[in-house]
Amino acid sequence: MALPLRKPVTLITGAGGEIGHGLVEHLLEHGDHELLCLDLRPLGPEFEKDGVHGVVGNILDKELWARLVTEYEIRAIYHLAALLSTRAEYSPEQGHRVNVDGTLILLELAVTEARYQARSIPFLFPSSIAAYGLPDRSTKEQAGRVREIDYNFPTTMYGCNKLYCEHLGRYYSEHFQQLTAERGKSGVDFRSLRFPGLISAKTVPTGGTSDYAPEMLHHAAQGTPYPCFVDEGARLPFMAMPDAIRSLTMLASAPVEALRQRVYNVGSFSFRADDFRTRVLAAFPDAQITFEPDTARNGIVATWPADVDDTPAREQWGWKPEYDLDRALDEYLIPEVRARYEDTGDDHPRRRKDDR
Ligand code: SER
Repeated sequence: MALPLRKPVTLITGAGGEIGHGLVEHLLEHGDHELLCLDLRPLGPEFEKDGVHGVVGNILDKELWARLVTEYEIRAIYHLAALLSTRAEYSPEQGHRVNVDGTLILLELAVTEARYQARSIPFLFPSSIAAYGLPDRSTKEQAGRVREIDYNFPTTMYGCNKLYCEHLGRYYSEHFQQLTAERGKSGVDFRSLRFPGLISAKTVPTGGTSDYAPEMLHHAAQGTPYPCFVDEGARLPFMAMPDAIRSLTMLASAPVEALRQRVYNVGSFSFRADDFRTRVLAAFPDAQITFEPDTARNGIVATWPADVDDTPAREQWGWKPEYDLDRALDEYLIPEVRARYEDTGDDHPRRRKDDR
């Protein structure tokens, strides 16, 4: 029997980032294939495991992809690499290159792989509440939980990029080359989640605008002062990282007939910055958390919804978060950050979300 020439893998871009860490762990245990993990920076020792093939490289490097596909048969793609919302405002053109051009390259790769393999390629894409743009804070307060189709007028480059890539994914899955005989048959099965702000006990993000909540928590656990860059009343939806990984993998395994849209909100809990401060102080009474709002970043948060309506995800593929705010803090975030800084004395948590 002939040996397969290429190794079947699930590809994860931006694997060294916040979502990547948890996703790699999950897929190693529950996934169907070995993992091809790409990141701009060398992956840490936690990636040195059987079944993980780490590659340092840039998603924009077409030569790299040309080489990788000679070795690996890509069966599914989790495209996590992105330049987050605050970072991308400093270099919008680079934001566009990474977030849009990068996604286009990955979608083209998926088309080619689908054709070689004569099977559809699941393409999982984290979008964001940044895809929304509410005009002002009073509209935000009145709007409450927004649906996927509401207020799609993002004000950040990152938000524009994510919203456009949602459409790109839909185009590639449903309307690709519609003037050819094979119209609409790209073989790409694009599925996307609009994530709220994510909070992980293991990593601290950088470059995002929802970072104030995880930063507050990690600074408190380390005993370092934290000047919060949004005001007391700033409200956003958030989600604990284990639920983020669960929602992504649930969507990936949902039967295609169940899905009536390609982009889903997923919600967990929502809080005001001062409420979160109170909760953090209850666990770390010596924490020094002050509010020193940065007008521009606070302004971005004001355009993002206070909460999301995730009814379609609940109805179509059974989404239900396991962590509300109490459980996230009591059973995951506080014990794990406490252990992290007490055990290791590490005052430099991994700051890797920026190169997702
Ligand atoms: N957490 C992201 C950011 O703040 C939004 O998806 O940029």
